[in-house]
Amino acid sequence: MTIPSYGEKAYWEQRYKGADADTFEWYGDWSTVKPFLKRIGGKKDMNVLHIGCGNSTLAEEMHEDGYRNNQFCVDFVESVMKKMQKRSVESRPEIKYDTMDITDSAFKSHIDSSFQLVIDKGCLDTVVCGTDVNENVSTMLSNVWSCLAVNGTLLVFSYGPPEERLALLDGQATNKEHLFNVKVMVFKKPSLKVALEGGDYELSIQNYEEGQHYENSYFVYICRKLG
Ligand SMILES: C[S@@+](CC[C@H](N)C(=O)[O-])C[C@H]1O[C@@H](n2cnc3c(N)ncnc32)[C@H](O)[C@@H]1O
Repeated sequence: MTIPSYGEKAYWEQRYKGADADTFEWYGDWSTVKPFLKRIGGKKDMNVLHIGCGNSTLAEEMHEDGYRNNQFCVDFVESVMKKMQKRSVESRPEIKYDTMDITDSAFKSHIDSSFQLVIDKGCLDTVVCGTDVNENVSTMLSNVWSCLAVNGTLLVFSYGPPEERLALLDGQATNKEHLFNVKVMVFKKPSLKVALEGGDYELSIQNYEEGQHYENSYFVYICRKLG
């Protein structure tokens, strides 16, 4: 039996199957994302699109923190979107979930350019594990670019270092018509013990410097829409 990989929809369908009550947070929760929103001057009345949201509670935590405008969360696994919508329908009606594939060229025809912020926590990372990477990332970024309002920002949280992500994001390896100005930041992963058991973890954020080696770190790509 072959086990599907991160880049395949079958992997995620399988993963979300037995996880009825569970939620899971890749790379960090709202306490990790929040400082980056501060840095980009994020406002609480922003419209936010979450791509590849899975069963993350990020939108819920942001809602608790006062982000009460439109938060639209999409993932291509229907079962998890139904489950997340059910969690929020009564208590957080401003958050909407829908089943959509971010690499589908029809995506942008369903969504207008009203989002000041798009958050990608681990979605690009899974798309690059799949096939037809340049084509799929190109369509994905074209979709995101179209959904962003003027001067809007795409925030990508990733395990992938700039050598593996920058050329995709700044258009050199993909589609030069959908331009972003990209700035890279780095933060240290919590230790395994803290990740498993909780406890003290102070988020330390640095600007990425070329030539430096970053161990046990995640990267954040702050992509401003140009054009
Ligand atoms: C690494 S998980 C991250 C989940 C969540 N964002 C988090 O931070 O916990 C990647 C998610 O992207 C979703 N995904 C992968 N490719 C996608 C695509 N083409 N369109 C929409 N969602 C996708 C997967 O179903 C999965 O939920």
